[in-house]
Amino acid sequence: MTFQPNGSRSTSKSELYDQLASQLTNLLAGERDLVANAANFAALVFHSLSDLNWAGFYFVKDSELVLGPFQGKPACMRIAFGRGVCGVAAAKRATTIVPNVHEFPGHIACDMESKSEIVIPLMKDESFIGVLDLDSPMLARFDEDDAAGLETLLKILLASTETDVN
Ligand code: SME
Repeated sequence: MTFQPNGSRSTSKSELYDQLASQLTNLLAGERDLVANAANFAALVFHSLSDLNWAGFYFVKDSELVLGPFQGKPACMRIAFGRGVCGVAAAKRATTIVPNVHEFPGHIACDMESKSEIVIPLMKDESFIGVLDLDSPMLARFDEDDAAGLETLLKILLASTETDVN
């Protein structure tokens, strides 16, 4: 068991995501609007996970990705499928972990502090509706445990909205 300077036991990544899943379920209870729930999702994640400088959503509109609710510095508003980490994850419909964004061809630098990134597609009833994007000022901040934890949180978000997509 690891002890923190304040005496509390350190929280493992899976414990942290379990706590976040419970907090998110409570936070979104009773609201079905996707934008409202995505906004509180971004705020909860940004203020709960360490070493993030951006957390937010891009939603599919007009056959491209359009900026949605987020926390962090102002960001690029439209991303074509296949462009940047978000556009590649969108085109492949696959969770994409980039340990060093400077080695990713075509990475779109919204915040010069970003060094690593994870992008997770949002699938609603087998339709692709957007992506969750997290950026970190640390190299290799994200791993498979983050992917699994964030995918669980996204299931909670999507379940909360039922049929409301826009
Ligand atoms: N870096 C992303 C662009 C979005 S921002 O990081 C918020 C990309 O390459 O797709």
